Amino acid sequence: MRSFPLFLKLEGRPVLLVGAGSAAAAKLRLLGSAGARVAVVAQSPSADLLAAVADTRAELVRDALTPQLFASAELVFGATGNEADDRAVAEQAHAAGKLVNIVDRPELSDFTMPAIVDRGDIVVAVSTHGASPVLAQRVRAAIESVLPPGLGRLSQFAQRFRTAIQSRIGENAARRRFWNQVLSGPIAAAVLAGDEKRATRDLIRAVNRGEPKAETGRVSLVGAGPGDPELLTLRAARALREADVIVYDKLVDPAVLEYARRDARRVFVGKSKSDHTLPQAEINALLVAEARSGRHVVRLKGGDPFVFGRGGEELDVLVAEGVRVEVVPGITAATGCAAYAGFPLTHRDHASSVVFVSGQSKDGVSDLDWRALANPRQTIVVYMGVSAAGEVAGKLIEAGLGASTPIAIVENGTRWDQRVIKGELQQAADLIRQHGVAGPALLVIGEVTRAAEAGVRAELKAAAE
Ligand SMILES: C[S@@+](CC[C@H](N)C(=O)[O-])C[C@H]1O[C@@H](n2cnc3c(N)ncnc32)[C@H](O)[C@@H]1O
Repeated sequence: MRSFPLFLKLEGRPVLLVGAGSAAAAKLRLLGSAGARVAVVAQSPSADLLAAVADTRAELVRDALTPQLFASAELVFGATGNEADDRAVAEQAHAAGKLVNIVDRPELSDFTMPAIVDRGDIVVAVSTHGASPVLAQRVRAAIESVLPPGLGRLSQFAQRFRTAIQSRIGENAARRRFWNQVLSGPIAAAVLAGDEKRATRDLIRAVNRGEPKAETGRVSLVGAGPGDPELLTLRAARALREADVIVYDKLVDPAVLEYARRDARRVFVGKSKSDHTLPQAEINALLVAEARSGRHVVRLKGGDPFVFGRGGEELDVLVAEGVRVEVVPGITAATGCAAYAGFPLTHRDHASSVVFVSGQSKDGVSDLDWRALANPRQTIVVYMGVSAAGEVAGKLIEAGLGASTPIAIVENGTRWDQRVIKGELQQAADLIRQHGVAGPALLVIGEVTRAAEAGVRAELKAAAE
């Protein structure tokens, strides 16, 4: 360890900052957020700095630097952006026996500024010892993504009950166990979701009962997105990390499961021709039973759980059974595929509406309002439409949509093996046959599919070529 990490209380303490530009302004705002009493020395302050001075109520000194300024400061920051001036600041600080930080010049600094993840009372500081601020920022971003925004609130909540819990649960190990359960279960989830009233009520109940075991069971209905694991939401990733059991479908990309704890139980219930699948009633029963035995269950579904995903049915059962449940939305196949294929679904030149329909209903091919759908200024996205593509196209043409309306079939959308096959509405079934479409695929119908392939997938393709 080449630098010693410490957290300094700066509230009300005098700090000297030398610099007139935006780097000085950024430093001033940071110091201001820690409550420091800052004197800023700048003969010609930028507008940026003047605004920061006003916001932080810092003292602005427009004169030259004097030994007195250094003597009255506890810490010194230099942000002049000019090597000779920065060096002079460092030398004068050292002459006055003060610790100094010069922005972007670790060789002149006694201490460096870490990249910070700020969650109220929880602060994470990342340092590369000044070697690579960009790398520090990247590590910071990775940490940001796993720490929920309400973590500061959670820490304050725990602080509020700390003494009371200490007096109720005397034994250290039992108290640790109690807090572990609280901080990883529904009480913490309620605080993070902003429902402190409920969290307080449940915490008090849990303390009165001894331990909160019976209340920890719950189900998160989580959307895994259409394929690319990077399309998972932060909330979905957190639910996966916390889950004891993950009940997942065939459409969930295996890479998404990597976010789960190693010891989490994984239960595959997906639909596939060769795999055994659990009927919906048994899936429902499994979710209820697992939650009732105190486990956090993540019911992981491709795309969004509420878009052709039977999430609604599962939600109804869980609510009726009195199981605690949350829904974490996901990016649905239509928006994911459209983005990665470069189709702006409601491009104002071509479509004033977009509809998501299913090519299949419970009893075979969908019984849709074909007349309402046959609108040339509308984009139609057909889910589960591969086997019925010919029939869907026929019905639309019969209802008045042009046979040469452009279409695209997006197979394995957002995945590395995404394919986009283009043609005309009247060719839908032939295209699927000719290209041997076998993976999950969407049929996108409408003028917007004329757009050239763009977006993330096209960039990746170009990079690979
Ligand atoms: C049972 S639905 C589930 C939809 C999912 N809940 C959603 O929001 O995307 C399954 C259908 O979604 C479509 N689908 C799902 N993932 C896809 C992908 N990566 N590429 C293309 N279509 C996909 C296919 O039409 C597939 O038959």
